[in-house]
Amino acid sequence: MSEHKRAIVRGVADTFDQAVAVYFGTGPSDVDEAKRQHDTYVASLRKFGVEVKELPTDNDYPDCCFVEDQVVVCDGKGLLTISGHDTRKGEQDVVKAGLESELELSRMTQPARMDGGDVIKFGDKYLVGISTRTNREAAQQLRDFVTPMGYTVHEIPIPSNALHLKSIASSPAPGLILAPRVYFDENSFPEDAEVIWVPEEEVYGANTIGFDKDILVADGYPNAHKALTDRGFNIHPIEMSQIRAGDGSLTCLSVFY
Ligand code: GLY
Repeated sequence: MSEHKRAIVRGVADTFDQAVAVYFGTGPSDVDEAKRQHDTYVASLRKFGVEVKELPTDNDYPDCCFVEDQVVVCDGKGLLTISGHDTRKGEQDVVKAGLESELELSRMTQPARMDGGDVIKFGDKYLVGISTRTNREAAQQLRDFVTPMGYTVHEIPIPSNALHLKSIASSPAPGLILAPRVYFDENSFPEDAEVIWVPEEEVYGANTIGFDKDILVADGYPNAHKALTDRGFNIHPIEMSQIRAGDGSLTCLSVFY
């Protein structure tokens, strides 16, 4: 059974063309198209049986659709992060309000800084990217949070030409990682991980969401797609060009709990 049963999402702001955009593009140019792509994304989650709660958008926060960065979930509990980007800190109140009746929530404390986009749940491990948005203090606070629930934390250095761990990698199925080789050290991933290396130019295609044998992927990354279909997965591509232009990937747009 997929772990992805319930999720929060948050609509694309009218101001999305002002989203922080440094890595995948020069910024969104068509907010209406971004909204359509977000609608398709939400419909896709529902198609895979996810119960989706839609939170209100806020035009004061151009990046607020990227809810994943505000909280890390573990077995019915949520750890609210301290956003790695100052302009995004105010996004958290609505995410907290959307989850507090569902999860027991606690908060990171300074000097921790973390975006949830740096965290991949991988079996009994949490893989944590140490990036420009996430520091080692935050990784330690996440360790303190998940250890009592039987999980360990595995830190991975993220190169400065990437935003988050999940901007350049994902786990489409248990035991499996999809990532481009050039962004990682030899021993970045746990020894028991089976890593499918995708070409550097398809880095955006490394971000996926798995629902057992079905995998939601961004349209336009044929090598990444073939690697998955060769392993017997059914891929479901959706257009993400305007979300990508705001440095967002599939996983950024939801928090599963
Ligand atoms: N635009 C997403 C981020 O920079 O956090």
